[in-house]
Amino acid sequence: MSIDASITMDSVIVEHQTASGPVRALDGVSLTVDGGSSVAITGPSGGGKSTLLGVIGGLARPTWGSVRIGGAEISELSERDRCDFRRRHIGFIYQADNLLPFLTLLENVGLQLSLNGKSSGTGTSLAVLAELGLAGLAYRLPDHLSGGQRQRAAVARAIAHQPKIILADEPTGALDTANAAGVIDLLLAMQREIGATLIMVTHDRGAAKRLSRQVHLRDGRLS
Ligand SMILES: Nc1ncnc2c1ncn2[C@@H]1O[C@H](COP(=O)(O)OP(=O)(O)O)[C@@H](O)[C@H]1O
Ligand SMILES: [Mg+2]
Repeated sequence: MSIDASITMDSVIVEHQTASGPVRALDGVSLTVDGGSSVAITGPSGGGKSTLLGVIGGLARPTWGSVRIGGAEISELSERDRCDFRRRHIGFIYQADNLLPFLTLLENVGLQLSLNGKSSGTGTSLAVLAELGLAGLAYRLPDHLSGGQRQRAAVARAIAHQPKIILADEPTGALDTANAAGVIDLLLAMQREIGATLIMVTHDRGAAKRLSRQVHLRDGRLS
């Protein structure tokens, strides 16, 4: 099933409950992103960037307001439907690669495919790894790879199921300049190939400028 990968957020408020009361992480965010485009989110720590990715990706529900992807109001889906939507349509990449340490790269990528019922995903996984320059490392464990190679593998896992939305939260934050540039190259190439919408949080101004649009988030508000 293919979806229209446009994103529409309307007056989104997210409050996290804490022992000392609610913390407002997003304070009335409205944002429209065209399907197939790319947006960089910059801003200070604690400004709400990860929370924003979380509500787009269906990891969290807004306290108020709506989040639509294509025509679907994901903030109103049941937990189970939201999980299904996330698994099929969203690819996540974080600062830490989060690869499972006891699975090879091939198995890490294949797991993503098998979650979508593609049990014979070995050929696809190998093809994805090859496309990202990792064919020779398919049977290695994550611990036996460099940080740059692991993050490339994390990109492979995130895009293997051809998600229409790619959400990257400081994907190059733990990499040196050369590896960081390589991972951004990959992300942009994969985004174009799949025709996905890419939302990327970054502190790197150079990386942010490579995306089609930049927005700034501070104190839960866009500017
Ligand atoms: N799960 C949570 N529980 C309580 N407060 C949270 C939680 N997640 C984020 N926050 C708070 O919400 C605000 C925004 O956090 P976050 O979205 O992580 O910002 P950023 O990614 O820009 O650093 C911060 O004040 C943070 O402490
Ligand atoms: Mg964050």
